[in-house]
Amino acid sequence: MRAPSGYLLAARYRLLEPVGRGGMGTVWRAHDELLDRDVAVKEVRLPAVLDEELRAELCARTEREGRATAMVAHPSVITVFDVVTEDDRPWIVMELLQAKSLEQLILEGGPLHPRKAAEIGRQILGALRAVHAKGILHRDVKPSNVLVMEDRAVLTDFGLAALEGDVSITQAGIVLGSAGYIAPERVLGSKASPAGDLWSLGATLYTAVEGRGLHGRRTAAAALAALTSGEPIPMTKAGPLAPVLDALLRIDPQTRLDSVRASLMLARVAAGGSAEEPLAPSGSGRPTPVITAPSFARRPAHRGLHRAEATAAALAVPPPRQERRQGEGVHRKRVEPRPTPSAYARFKATVIKLCLPRRFWPRELRKRG
Ligand SMILES: Nc1ncnc2c1ncn2[C@@H]1O[C@H](COP(=O)(O)OP(=O)(O)O)[C@@H](O)[C@H]1O
Ligand SMILES: [Mg+2]
Repeated sequence: MRAPSGYLLAARYRLLEPVGRGGMGTVWRAHDELLDRDVAVKEVRLPAVLDEELRAELCARTEREGRATAMVAHPSVITVFDVVTEDDRPWIVMELLQAKSLEQLILEGGPLHPRKAAEIGRQILGALRAVHAKGILHRDVKPSNVLVMEDRAVLTDFGLAALEGDVSITQAGIVLGSAGYIAPERVLGSKASPAGDLWSLGATLYTAVEGRGLHGRRTAAAALAALTSGEPIPMTKAGPLAPVLDALLRIDPQTRLDSVRASLMLARVAAGGSAEEPLAPSGSGRPTPVITAPSFARRPAHRGLHRAEATAAALAVPPPRQERRQGEGVHRKRVEPRPTPSAYARFKATVIKLCLPRRFWPRELRKRG
């Protein structure tokens, strides 16, 4: 049930033609007859059969999208003008951009130059920092939600945004977001966080330079297993952006690149430099350390490695205790007690248990059960 072209919304906005489509409905170019200017109108499509509760939830979600967006005035955050409920469904009126989504750009023109991608990333990161500062999480950063113009990139679609203290869908324990762009910890059920939005930005920029998604056609579970297997993230076209992507796509949110350093690194690459140039000397007079993207705990590519071996390596399980051979001295160095696994190793173990059949688990994990 899509509104016909020419439909007059709220006795004011005349729908002219569709300019985009997403998971929630259609975005129209429309004319605001009161202020005599063109605007974009997002028409939320509701399934034909919808119970009251879900309808109320979708209306609330759209209002939340409007509210979240209106809280932040930033050149890279879409400007919302109005939210309307009409025809028993919600509509959002916003600035109309002469833009293509990053998804469209990649589909039509292939992968982006790393410098161009870095500039888009720098601007979108600016938007994320502005919304995070207001206690808002976007939760759905992906190429179709980034609009790109000649010299401006804009983050749109705050439909899944969470405001601090917001109840409702967040509490239902549902993982919201788009496969391939949701941070690994969220797939495993952790709460959304600013670091999760940064991972999604990393995955978005990865798609922009490589021309294909990080996960390819794999299922979410297989993709997660691949990420945690210790294999390096395959990158062939990222060039100077590679260290930034590597550090943004860290599985452990604690060691993921933070937004301040990410901003600096993206700005350097966008300006034609390298992500890892030294910082300008600080006021303290002490030399500032070179910013290096901390390397992943990943092993070098080794095609012949069996997945189970790779996961065992990633878990850093100590080698199994050797049986004493006949005639071997009793004075052999005692085997140290096994160290308690770190939080990160436990995290990895959980991922492996969730994603891989038991026969592929490393022996240590099988023993522990
Ligand atoms: N303000 C806008 N101006 C121009 N095009 C837009 C605008 N907002 C969205 N679009 C287009 O519509 C598509 C879907 O919009 P989006 O807000 O992501 O909807 P959904 O919630 O359905 O995913 C975008 O990918 C983009 O191509
Ligand atoms: Mg969208």
